[in-house]
Amino acid sequence: MVKIGILGVGTVGASVANILENNADILEARAGKKMVVKHGVVKNMGKERGVNITLSDNPMDIINDPEIDIVVELMGGVEEPYALVKKALENGKAVVTANKALLAYHRYELQEIAGDIPLMYEASTAGGIPIIGALRNGLASNHVESIQGIMNGTTNYMLTKMINEGALYDEILKEAQELGYAEADPTFDVGGFDASHKLLILASIAYGIDAKPEDILIEGIENITQTDVAFAKDFDYEIKLLGIAKKVERGVELRVHPTMIPSSSMIAKVDGVMNAVSVVGDCVGETMYYGAGAGGDATASAVIADIVDIVRGNHGPMLGYKKGLESDMELLFESEIVTHYYLRMSVDDKSGVLAKITNVLEKFDISIESMLQKPHKNEDVVKLLFTTHECQEEKIQAAMLELKKLDCVHGEIAMMRIEK
Ligand code: HSE
Repeated sequence: MVKIGILGVGTVGASVANILENNADILEARAGKKMVVKHGVVKNMGKERGVNITLSDNPMDIINDPEIDIVVELMGGVEEPYALVKKALENGKAVVTANKALLAYHRYELQEIAGDIPLMYEASTAGGIPIIGALRNGLASNHVESIQGIMNGTTNYMLTKMINEGALYDEILKEAQELGYAEADPTFDVGGFDASHKLLILASIAYGIDAKPEDILIEGIENITQTDVAFAKDFDYEIKLLGIAKKVERGVELRVHPTMIPSSSMIAKVDGVMNAVSVVGDCVGETMYYGAGAGGDATASAVIADIVDIVRGNHGPMLGYKKGLESDMELLFESEIVTHYYLRMSVDDKSGVLAKITNVLEKFDISIESMLQKPHKNEDVVKLLFTTHECQEEKIQAAMLELKKLDCVHGEIAMMRIEK
């Protein structure tokens, strides 16, 4: 019999305990051994958890229990779970974690500490979607050319409502929080940080890139307006908050930002709280993974899949490789990104303005692909919206700084990247 301890018996922890109990027959058949939860640890002993397991409030009751084989870490946070997971591994216990923030900051140290002891984390990225297993195992023969995904359900729900129903940002954020998907601090969702943690985990498996959230481009959905939404509709784009890892000649681009993507693409059709990840491999071509990115039972499904793999002796190296992987793959600077761009600015409605703007763009060798001018409530000012052909991030940023200095340009210039 395999004994399990759960650190953190919240929504996901309770689902793990209940599914292990309710689906014990198929799980034993699949794993070859019976698996039981021996103990759960919670911060607040006064709260009803809806589980039939012994609870206490001291993590050491699990970490130091010689009978416990597998520690499931579902506490959240970074440094406290890091210390506990480290201790559990040092005590020879296998660990399953759903903690994306922990891995975004400490995955390489944990890989080192774990060595041959299983440390699994399927639930950390895109909840119930088995994307970690797909990258580590199913796509092992591939050089990964790109990963592109909707990795945050809260923002996808918000964008879907803003685009389909014209809903206003603040109202819809409240609604998304009520769904129970949002992080305790929703700026983690809307600011793109949650998605960045997941992207970094996937990029480690695909490319062996050791980067932290601070090292990559992260932009949230806070500045998207109904003007952008209307432009996207007119030009057959959807707006999605994407996590993007892309291998280019000089290295790997890692970025999280709102992105205009063609409405005809598969990922553009992923609406509401659902997550989806597309992975392109050199052998397999494009593969696509879709499902619930959060929620108690969906996330527990991934946690238990890891437990089953550990019990079967089926775990492999934590990040999916035993020695350096594509060691020439360096993280590119933000300034090196090359893509298409959308710009929105308010400009004077008078002759010569477009010439001044195109002069600046010409200086930076930026070519306009499409353009739209919309009248403003204030009749002397119009909204000018355009997209560019491919250009380098450094040039678009420099051009935006110069455009802002023009007398005919008013207020901030909004920019969104486009992936075709
Ligand atoms: N806050 C996350 C989301 C939960 O909205 O997708 C899953 O990590």
